[in-house]
Amino acid sequence: MFVLAHLSDPHLGPLPKPRLSELIGKRATGFLNWQRKRRFVHRGDVLARIVADLAAQAPDHIAVTGDLANISLAGEYAPARAWLESLGSPANVTLVPGNHDAYARRTARHAQRHWGEYMRGDDGDGFPFLRRRGPLALIGLSSALPTAPLMATGRLGPDQLQGLPAILDQCTNEGLCRVVLIHHPPVSKPSRHFKRLVDGAALCETLARHGAELVIHGHDHVHSLTFVEGPHRRIPVVGVPSASEAPPGKHDPAGYNLYRVDGGAGAWRTEVISRGISPDGANVIEIKRTVLSGS
Ligand SMILES: [Fe+2]
Ligand SMILES: [Fe+2]
Repeated sequence: MFVLAHLSDPHLGPLPKPRLSELIGKRATGFLNWQRKRRFVHRGDVLARIVADLAAQAPDHIAVTGDLANISLAGEYAPARAWLESLGSPANVTLVPGNHDAYARRTARHAQRHWGEYMRGDDGDGFPFLRRRGPLALIGLSSALPTAPLMATGRLGPDQLQGLPAILDQCTNEGLCRVVLIHHPPVSKPSRHFKRLVDGAALCETLARHGAELVIHGHDHVHSLTFVEGPHRRIPVVGVPSASEAPPGKHDPAGYNLYRVDGGAGAWRTEVISRGISPDGANVIEIKRTVLSGS
């Protein structure tokens, strides 16, 4: 049995004091939004309770699917690195970036610079990357890129889409349980059109042809379970809420997932246990337990 913990979208605060030159364009509205609303939604004390509960479960590995930052100020990346280190070493924690980690063009490369060790495959830098951990193949994709104001879309681009099939096939040959990490969900509801993965259809086509055992993501800040077609069986796609959202709020209260993986090639048994802050905010509790594959 291998246990993978998954948390996402901590939107770490407090925001460092921005320089005036940093508050142009999209960052200006993002900063106002943070000051007026988001800093009351994403709370450090809530995140600390989630992380403490996660640590008590002693998972074998931790996946983080992005949005550590808020408006990509230069000063947001070093504190986020310290937070990553508090979770675990780069060998034990795997990260993919979110749209808030590449919010502004000027700091679009800061995530790689500060957090690169957590986003590095066994064979080096670049996306998609592959890390083998126990029976798992952790395959990291980056959907993070700067976008126009009011947009929170993501994109993989042709290079990642071209690189992904060979990795998926190789991991099948090695008998590994393939877990794809991405910030944006492959498919979004029409109401989230301006927050969608723009080349999600191409990703779904690749998954349909080459398969994967599990896709995990953040971005929507809610617990979710959907499926995309695979070559032999449907592939579970699981989203987690923000790890820091205080209840009551617009989204699900802060939470995280534990994936328990058992079995072997062609017969994986995967189960997801969702834990999170109770609606009254008093405790971290088990929200639900779902068998994703096998029996
Ligand atoms: Fe987010
Ligand atoms: Fe996001």
